[in-house]
Order: sequence, then structure tokens, then C-alpha cells
Amino acid sequence: MKSVVYPGSFDPITLGHLDIIKRAATIFDEVYVCVLNNSAKKTPLFSLDERVKMIGDVVSEFDNVKVASYGGLLVDFAKQHDINVIIRGLREITDAGTELSMAQGNHTVAPDIDTLFLATDPKYSFISSSMVREFAGYGRSVEGFVPDIVNKAINDKYKIN
Ligand code: PNS
Repeated sequence: MKSVVYPGSFDPITLGHLDIIKRAATIFDEVYVCVLNNSAKKTPLFSLDERVKMIGDVVSEFDNVKVASYGGLLVDFAKQHDINVIIRGLREITDAGTELSMAQGNHTVAPDIDTLFLATDPKYSFISSSMVREFAGYGRSVEGFVPDIVNKAINDKYKIN
């Protein structure tokens, strides 16, 4: 059984993320969506538990997709689950620098773990979680950016109609 981990902050999960999950689920036998706790980096909009619950609801139709959260290094999560492939989406060329550094850093500390990249579907390439947070924070609807379940959670949080 070939498993892959799709890591991220997912604050919140977007339609671009969901597209990568769907495609990864057709390539690999099992996909672990791993919500990493990057609390040192930024104040999250949704708590770790809220994000895991929302992603679980969004991917419930896929039998081979699991959702987890982790507070440590991604490579340690991967090792604990016998996973040696990380998958990430590339939205645009400017993503490539940071993504390559992360992939190379992870491969250096864990040489048996490789990162594969999927090109984001162009119709989602402008979408980012930070853009979603910004629009929502100013009371703008983010319908068309995020799955319906997430859109509803954001509307409830920000009292957007
Ligand atoms: O959705 P993001 O914020 O672009 O995802 C970044 C993420 C969570 C994949 C990255 O920050 C990460 O792997 N964090 C866990 C800590 C870790 O393993 N760091 C070493 C590689 S940078």
C-alpha cells in the first residue's frame, strides 16, 4: 500500500487544497492530510481541532483519505506512519522557492523521504488561505474560494450573510 502525506496549515482548507487531495487520492492508495501546528508562525483563524473537523467533513466522501494533526516535524509524522512521500501543490512560480527549500530541507534530514509536487489547477492558482482570511476578515463572502462547509463556518464566525 503506497501512502502519501499532504501537509499544511489549512487555515482554512481551500478549493485548491481539496483539488490536490482529490488528485493525490487517485495516485496513491492512501492520503494523510496532516494539519501542522504552526502556532509560532501565525495566529490561526480556526483552531487545530476546528481545522481537522472541517477537513474531515470535506473529505468524508473519500474512503482513502485520512485527516490528522501534528505538533512536531513533518518528517517525524511521516516516519511514524511509514510514509516516505510528501505531496504539495505548486500554485505559481513564486511558490517554488520556499517549496524547494522545504523539500530539500526535509530530504536532507530524512533522506528516505521525497517530496512530489502537483501543479495547481489554474482555476485555483490565485486562491490562498491567507487571502481567504483577509476577505473574510473584512466581511466579504469567500464563496468560490473554499468548500461549502468551510464557507458556512466562516460566515458563522464573521456573521457574513
Ligand atoms: O500551508 P503551509 O503553511 O504552506 O504549510 C507549511 C507546512 C505546514 C507544510 C510547513 O511549515 C511544515 O512542514 N511545518 C511543520 C514543521 C516542519 O516540519 N518544519 C520543517 C520543514 S519547513
